[in-house]
Amino acid sequence: MAVYLNNAATTWPKPEPVARAVYDFMTRAGANLARGAAAKRDIGTMDMVMSCREKLAALFGGHENADPRYVTFASNVTESLNIVLKGFLKPGMRVLTTSMEHNASMRPLRRLETQGVAVTVLQCDAEGVLPLADLRETLENDRYDMMILTHASNVCGTVQDLSGIADICRGYGVPLVLDSAQTAGVLPIDATALNLAALCFTGHKGLFGPQGTGGILWRPDFAEATGWFVEGGTGSYSHLEFHPDKMPDKFEAGTPNLPGIAGLNAALDWLAEEGIGKIHVREHDLAQRLLDGLAKLPGVRFAGRTTMKDRLAVIAVNFEGSDNGILASELVDRAGIETRPGLHCAPTAHRTLGTSPHGALRLSPGYFNTEADIDLCLETLAGILKIPAK
Ligand code: ALA
Repeated sequence: MAVYLNNAATTWPKPEPVARAVYDFMTRAGANLARGAAAKRDIGTMDMVMSCREKLAALFGGHENADPRYVTFASNVTESLNIVLKGFLKPGMRVLTTSMEHNASMRPLRRLETQGVAVTVLQCDAEGVLPLADLRETLENDRYDMMILTHASNVCGTVQDLSGIADICRGYGVPLVLDSAQTAGVLPIDATALNLAALCFTGHKGLFGPQGTGGILWRPDFAEATGWFVEGGTGSYSHLEFHPDKMPDKFEAGTPNLPGIAGLNAALDWLAEEGIGKIHVREHDLAQRLLDGLAKLPGVRFAGRTTMKDRLAVIAVNFEGSDNGILASELVDRAGIETRPGLHCAPTAHRTLGTSPHGALRLSPGYFNTEADIDLCLETLAGILKIPAK
C-alpha cells in the first residue's frame, strides 16, 4: 500500500464522487459541448459545464454572482499561464516576476524575452518571501505592464503576502496575474477584492479534480485586452471563418476535456461539502507533525521556513551527506513512501533557497494521510540515515 506524500505534485487519492462523475460522463451522460441537436444529453452536458463555470466563478470571484463567462477552461495551470502571458504581453512591454516562480511561468517569460518583452525578476529572501519594499521601489522607479506571481512555492510551501502585493500593484496600476497552482482550493482567494487581472488555476491539486483540468478566472477588462492564439470550432458563430472574440469562446477552441470538467464539477461539490478550512487545518496539522519529527533528525537542513507560519503542507529538506534522490528511492523501496526529490520544475526557486543545483527531498502530506503515515516516514528516514528512531 502506498504512503503518498507527494500531494504538491497532485492530490491523491481523488474523492470517490470525482471518479464516479468521470465514469458516469464517459459511459452515460456525456455528449459533446454545444455540438448536438439539443437532445437531453446535449443539454445535460451544457448544464454541467455551465454549473462548473459558475462554481469556479463563485469560488474565486468572491461572490455567488461572479460572471461565469469569464472562466476559461484549460488543460492545466501551465496552459492557463501561457494563454495569459503570450496573449497579453507584446514586444516592448515590461513584466515583473519573482525568483520563486515555477517553470510554468518562467519558461514562457524567457521565450517572450527573446521576442522583445523586458522581464524583471525580483529576488525573494532565503525563505522564499518577496520583500514588499523591493516591489514598491521597483514600481516607483519603472513602469510595468504586468506582474506575475506564484501565490505559494511548490518547492517549500512559503505563501506570499498576496493582499500586500495586490495593494501595491493596484496602487501603481499594474495588472497582477496569479499562479494559484498550489493554493487554489487550499487558501481562500477573492480575485475581485484583490483586483486580480487573471487568476490561473489547476484542477488536480487543491481542488481534488482530475489531471488535465484547470483554467483562468479573468477580470473582464483584462480578458478584453488579451489576445488569443488557439482558434477553431466553438460550437457557436459557425457561420464565421474568423474565431469569435466573445467569452468564453474566445479562449476555448475545440472539444474541451469534458470528462475532466465533469470530475472537476463533482470535486467542487465535494470540496464545498467537506470545507476548504477543515481540509487546510488537517493538512497543516499533519505537516506540523512531520516538520517537528524532521527537525529531530541529525543533519537536517530545511529549504525555506522552519515553521508552519504562512506556509502550505509542503516541506523540502536535505540531510548532510545524503543525496535527496537516493533518499526518495529508499523511502519507496523500504516502505512504499512516495515523495518528489530534485528541482521540482522550479530551478530559480531552488537557487533562491540555496538548494541549487541538487534540489531537495519534498514531502507534501495531504488530506487523506494519517498520523501513522507521517510517523512511518520519519521512522523510515531515521533508518535510512542510520540513527535510532525517537
Ligand atoms: N508542479 C508540480 C510539482 O511541484 C507538478 O510537483
